[in-house]
Amino acid sequence: MRQRTDGRGFATRAIHAGERPDPVTHAHTPPIYATSTFAFDTAAEKEDAVDRSLAWEPGVYFYSRTGNPTNRALEEKVASLEGAEDCVTAASGMAVVSSTLLAHLGAGDQLVAGDELFAITQVLLGYDFPRRDIEVARVDMTDLAAVEAAITPRTKLLFMETSTNPRLRVPDIAALADLAHARGLLLVADNTFLGPAALRPLEHGADLVLHAATKYLSGHGDAVSGVVAGAKALLDPIRVQVDALGQAASPFNSWLVMRGIRTLPLRTRAAGQNALRIAEFLEASDKVEWVRYPGLASHPDHDVARRQIDGPGGAMITFKPRGGLEGMAAFTDHLRLCDIGVSLGDICTLVYPRPKDGGIIRLSVGCEDLDDLLEDVARGLSFVP
Ligand SMILES: Cc1ncc(COP(=O)(O)O)c(C=O)c1O
Repeated sequence: MRQRTDGRGFATRAIHAGERPDPVTHAHTPPIYATSTFAFDTAAEKEDAVDRSLAWEPGVYFYSRTGNPTNRALEEKVASLEGAEDCVTAASGMAVVSSTLLAHLGAGDQLVAGDELFAITQVLLGYDFPRRDIEVARVDMTDLAAVEAAITPRTKLLFMETSTNPRLRVPDIAALADLAHARGLLLVADNTFLGPAALRPLEHGADLVLHAATKYLSGHGDAVSGVVAGAKALLDPIRVQVDALGQAASPFNSWLVMRGIRTLPLRTRAAGQNALRIAEFLEASDKVEWVRYPGLASHPDHDVARRQIDGPGGAMITFKPRGGLEGMAAFTDHLRLCDIGVSLGDICTLVYPRPKDGGIIRLSVGCEDLDDLLEDVARGLSFVP
């Protein structure tokens, strides 16, 4: 087979990294290896594969909970995009959040984590960790003095979201990495809300970056998947957790995510441009109390976002219509194009009303034509009292 390259540019690697025509059949698209086990000619070959696979040698397989070629192809693609030595994929975003934290924290350790986190990450930290004697301090990760004050001799790790859920605060990764490394701690960044086309936390000093690949990486709302990338020495203990806790990724989902990633740079650019224009439109409306979008000068972390994020500031917007819960429902319930749903990162715009947060609305802006989106947003606002 002729020598191949993944190219150097981000878009080229999003298309080519991890993917090769099948050497036996010449199929251009990587196959979905729908197999639980792998077969060998001899007992010795089987034993060798088991030993090497369980020593986490890439490309050696004996059983798909431990390793699978389709999952591996996704891992190689994501490692390339994040500028990482290696990557581990698992069954969901929460599978990588939990495996990553459990691999690097044990009884008696302390974790410093953001005060605003994805809801189920909060369940893990608030319900599961106390039962394992892992202490958790929750602080505003944009407040470096507060983060420093929360660190104790038992602290092992700082955990942050690169754009928080739902208020879209953007912590300074380089400053947190300096703080973490001066104290011998790991910095782990959940980059789900931006994706690697907009931000690559390892370039700013984070030790591990993880994603619910369910969101921007997949991009089509058709797969549940998670990935974590960084140095192999930090990832091998995470592989042990993924294997032992039975969190193996489905090869079919990995294939869907891999297909989605090929258009990630295009989708990130289109959705980001739409988001900036919609955020400006909302900010100019007298039906809106406030708007949070990192690309707006009014955002409290606008300067950090401009330094850290490629493009206008991602494609997530949070805003509060006037009129409290009534205003919220008046907006969402009169939309005709955008769907109400809890997920994000999809190619189509999703609207997430949050009555328990006082009637704020989170928009995950998609790649539709801007005029259609603006028309729908204007229609929703026209019903806000
Ligand atoms: C920031 C963040 N992290 C992790 C997750 C968990 O991902 P999954 O739903 O794939 O388990 C989500 C899900 O919405 C998320 O928003």
